[in-house]
Amino acid sequence: MKAWIGLMSGTSMDGIDAILVTFEDRHIRIHATHTTDYPSDIRQRLASLSQNRGTPDDLGELDHATGSLFALAATSVIEKAGFPPASIAAIGSHGQTLRHQPDGSKPFSIQIGDPNLIAERTGVTTVADFRRRDLASGGQGAPLVPAFHKAFFSAAGEDRCILNLGGIANITHLPADNSAPVTGFDTGPSNALMDAWCLDQTGKAYDKDGAWADEGIVDQDLLGDMLSEAYFSRQPPKSTGTEKFNLEWLKVLLNRHPDLAGADVQRTLLELTAVTVAQQIPHFPGMTIFVCGGGARNRVLMRELQRTCSPSRIASTAELGLDPQWVEPVAFAWLASQRLSGKPGNLPEVTGASGERILGAVYYA
Ligand SMILES: Nc1ncnc2c1ncn2[C@@H]1O[C@H](COP(=O)(O)OP(=O)(O)O)[C@@H](O)[C@H]1O
Ligand SMILES: [Mg+2]
Repeated sequence: MKAWIGLMSGTSMDGIDAILVTFEDRHIRIHATHTTDYPSDIRQRLASLSQNRGTPDDLGELDHATGSLFALAATSVIEKAGFPPASIAAIGSHGQTLRHQPDGSKPFSIQIGDPNLIAERTGVTTVADFRRRDLASGGQGAPLVPAFHKAFFSAAGEDRCILNLGGIANITHLPADNSAPVTGFDTGPSNALMDAWCLDQTGKAYDKDGAWADEGIVDQDLLGDMLSEAYFSRQPPKSTGTEKFNLEWLKVLLNRHPDLAGADVQRTLLELTAVTVAQQIPHFPGMTIFVCGGGARNRVLMRELQRTCSPSRIASTAELGLDPQWVEPVAFAWLASQRLSGKPGNLPEVTGASGERILGAVYYA
């Protein structure tokens, strides 16, 4: 049985999640996992460059530095699993998104983390650059995980949603009629704004368990201003990132609410995620929303999602047999397997691409 590795780091820029798996039909067997956190100087440089502060030299150096860290995450997970590199079919590396601008006249999406270094240092064939073929065919290049959700999590006769709470939140609706089209898109910010505000105000990278937000109260005026953002009422296909939802976006709005306590702003940001997910998610009787991503660990966010999304039930993807932290990395391991089997990785009904496309570039070992 062939083994596959998935490497993922999202817009939160917290670190690289690595997983080594085998697939047996719809069953995923996890052999090892590993997380390589970004050192704080790398995280800061990535955050600056993602806001267009930096030079081509910064881009080149960070491509190398993150490529080295992706390679390190891969070698760590290979060692933990105790698998010889020759037994691993491929690594699927999402890379680190720096900018995602799918809607202009010259759409692009930039992921760094040099895959040449990953292939060279692991001795394992590496697949990367998953988004740009979808973009080239008129799609958003995102989200790409819905095809994986469909392959592994759909259930005949049952409406399910998968809700990924990374820096940005994305949803996938898997219809009870498995032949009906899947819906999937980014709903807007999840942790990105909460992390940015928490770092700005407290120096901490994120609000552990939502404890700080829980000390505050929702400011309805600020929430109303946030909800007037046009992205939330746009029809899918759509995808977004920290190019839009960043600290500057928040601070412009806060100019109109200068006296708010920090915890009240944090609580209002949490409410923004809970409300925008509930407003945009398709609702069906008896539907369950299975949550994954780091936001699943935010106890207060989960509690408020249960309120805003009621009567749909909020659950963890652990109920589907996959821990919330590992859904996205496994998806990229699977996307690598799709690439090497010559099968498509996108769902055109989700991304808006003009058709199914084989995604990713291959860097042979
Ligand atoms: N215990 C926790 N309490 C609250 N938030 C958490 C917790 N653990 C992780 N997170 C949030 O999850 C984020 C990382 O989630 P992740 O799924 O890796 O996002 P991304 O795909 O954007 O990298 C962190 O930046 C943080 O906001
Ligand atoms: Mg992450």
